[in-house]
Amino acid sequence: MRIGLLTGGGDAPGLNAAIRSIVKRCEKYGFEAVGIKHGWAGILNNEYIELSYEKIKNIIGKSGTILKTSRTNPLKIDSGVDIVEKNVKKMKLDALIAIGGDDTLGVAKILSESGLKIIGIPKTIDNDLKETEATIGFDTAINTAMQTIENLKVTSESHNRVIVVEIMGRHAGWIAFYSGIAAGADLILIPEQPFRLTDVIDFVKKKNVLGQKSLVIVVAEGALISDYQGPVTKNSRVDQFGHVFLGGIGDFLAREIQRTVKVETRAITPAHIIRGGSPTAFDRVIATRYGIKSVDLIKEGKTGVMVALQNGEVVSVPFSKTLIAGKMVSESLYEEGKTFFTF
Ligand code: F6P
Repeated sequence: MRIGLLTGGGDAPGLNAAIRSIVKRCEKYGFEAVGIKHGWAGILNNEYIELSYEKIKNIIGKSGTILKTSRTNPLKIDSGVDIVEKNVKKMKLDALIAIGGDDTLGVAKILSESGLKIIGIPKTIDNDLKETEATIGFDTAINTAMQTIENLKVTSESHNRVIVVEIMGRHAGWIAFYSGIAAGADLILIPEQPFRLTDVIDFVKKKNVLGQKSLVIVVAEGALISDYQGPVTKNSRVDQFGHVFLGGIGDFLAREIQRTVKVETRAITPAHIIRGGSPTAFDRVIATRYGIKSVDLIKEGKTGVMVALQNGEVVSVPFSKTLIAGKMVSESLYEEGKTFFTF
């Protein structure tokens, strides 16, 4: 048996742990592991390397992906599916493991419907995949973001400034919410709960009157202002999966706060910084477990599924079940968070 594996979409801490685990499990069964370079682009361009555990056994704590990644969408290319199928045959692959978020796994789903044997591994710092309690990279991202917010609290207090921190997460508020709660942010704004600009301004004013001059406001990059059309963005470019390039709401809020409340305000955007950093123990272990399960499923002949964490067990769920819509922060969870910020 010859198994191809690829990492697609944004990189996330823990990808290398998954690669390492797949290779090790393959060797246990006498299977060959083939690393496809640059996500789906590597299949289109026949770029791959033969992997051996001996060579990669020390990558578990290394962030990023040794296979590299891309946001290439083969479905957007003329005869893309045919080229993928032809090249999978050329590489003599019996099955594929795609490690990615909704975009990468969306492609995996279509390819699996057209006959390829594919397993998906959930990876995204955004944590927005349904049917799983863990996506590789989220735990590390929230810890890095928490540390960053804590650092900003220190300087905000020293200078009596308002700091607006814009945190990645696309259209889900998981990273902003978890890191904001963990770092004790004064206000957290997420896409799932659109807000009025006037409410944020009033919140800052009220705190100011009460004597709290330093504030840290965490805003998710996809957060929505209720009386605006769509998210605040710097431009209207989209990637191959149709995603608009988010970013800009932090600057916008900081400018409006400074202009209306007349307090010194800064906007900080850690952006991709939270995608690096050494993976946490949780991310390393879950990535390792997902890798093992993926190879086992292929051995059992069960493909067209994504591995997932449910009640502590690594299980498999059909692509059709997990890719319907994103997993979002619920209203009740956000309400819990609002214990710490009424506005
Ligand atoms: O999906 C992961 C993510 O980091 C999002 O949180 C963010 O909006 C996006 O990727 C950024 O994409 P890129 O790395 O292509 O700039």
